[in-house]
Amino acid sequence: MIGWPLGHSISPRFQQPAFDALGLPVTYGALPVAPADLEGFITGLREAVDGAPPWLGVNVTIPHKEAVSHLVDDVTDEARLIGAVNTVICEGRRLIGHNTDAHGFMQGLRDVGVDPTRMPALVIGAGGAARAVAVALLRAGVVELAIANRSPERAESLCWQLQAAFPSARLKPLPLDAGVLRVRLLPAVLLVNTTVLGMAMGAAPGESPVPDDAIGDRHVVYDLVYNPARTPLLHAAAAAGATCIEGLTMLVHQGAASFERWTGQVPPIDVMMDAARRALGLAPARPTAPSTLDRA
Ligand SMILES: NC(=O)c1ccc[n+]([C@@H]2O[C@H](COP(=O)([O-])OP(=O)(O)OC[C@H]3O[C@@H](n4cnc5c(N)ncnc54)[C@H](OP(=O)(O)O)[C@@H]3O)[C@@H](O)[C@H]2O)c1
Repeated sequence: MIGWPLGHSISPRFQQPAFDALGLPVTYGALPVAPADLEGFITGLREAVDGAPPWLGVNVTIPHKEAVSHLVDDVTDEARLIGAVNTVICEGRRLIGHNTDAHGFMQGLRDVGVDPTRMPALVIGAGGAARAVAVALLRAGVVELAIANRSPERAESLCWQLQAAFPSARLKPLPLDAGVLRVRLLPAVLLVNTTVLGMAMGAAPGESPVPDDAIGDRHVVYDLVYNPARTPLLHAAAAAGATCIEGLTMLVHQGAASFERWTGQVPPIDVMMDAARRALGLAPARPTAPSTLDRA
């Protein structure tokens, strides 16, 4: 995994146990790569050692996801649409850029049996993660997608770009305004937080992007923030009886999709989920519904 800086990443903590569980002789490590060194690092991936390139691939995180998409030999349609690469597959000396965030996000919905095509969606945030989530939902055929952001012009710009790629989609940019969000949340909607609000050690660890009393049991609430596992938004959602999905679910599923593309083997999801939970100081997941919250 490459990024700059890399202090926060728990990916090595759940990827290495997956390789070990399958007995694969692979080492997964975190390598801080400064922006100035990125091109040299990517070029180095193609170099053979003892006749063969030694890399299966790379995970890419902040701030390199966009830059890497311009440095590899090809990108998948999905990565092109999202405008970012989070996984590089080394096919010999040819480097292919993938994005597994949209898959990871959708898998979190599948785990709790939610079909997003049946309800409108409200995505909070308009950054890189929001883009992956929006592409996932639009590809799934969501009936309507509203995007609310602190900087409204970013929500407008994202909606405009997505409308060009999905001409028949119903898209609506919104400001991050409590009154506006309350109205949007009156019906049953899928609510997804893709902002940094609620993130431990972030700028606003105690904050939720929507008023607590706007959430009810008609909602499906998905918070991409995974540390803490139970954010202020998910606490309010669980108290209101909403269906809750933790960001850790998406994190593990996007990592599992990378693992599958590197190795061609079925990833040991339970091993990865338990290792990820341990890395955050949490108890192991229940095997039947690893991504739902206890409502107690
Ligand atoms: N679970 C997973 O697998 C997964 C995957 C990817 C990302 N994530 C999480 O998703 C979050 C966003 O990641 P990203 O890559 O999209 O980051 P990003 O591109 O930097 O976008 C950050 C978003 O947060 C908003 N924001 C920042 N500070 C805010 C504040 N004080 N009040 C309201 N909104 C605020 C920004 O709004 P402005 O446009 O107004 O600045 C923007 O919409 C992070 O917490 C990340 O860890 C999780």
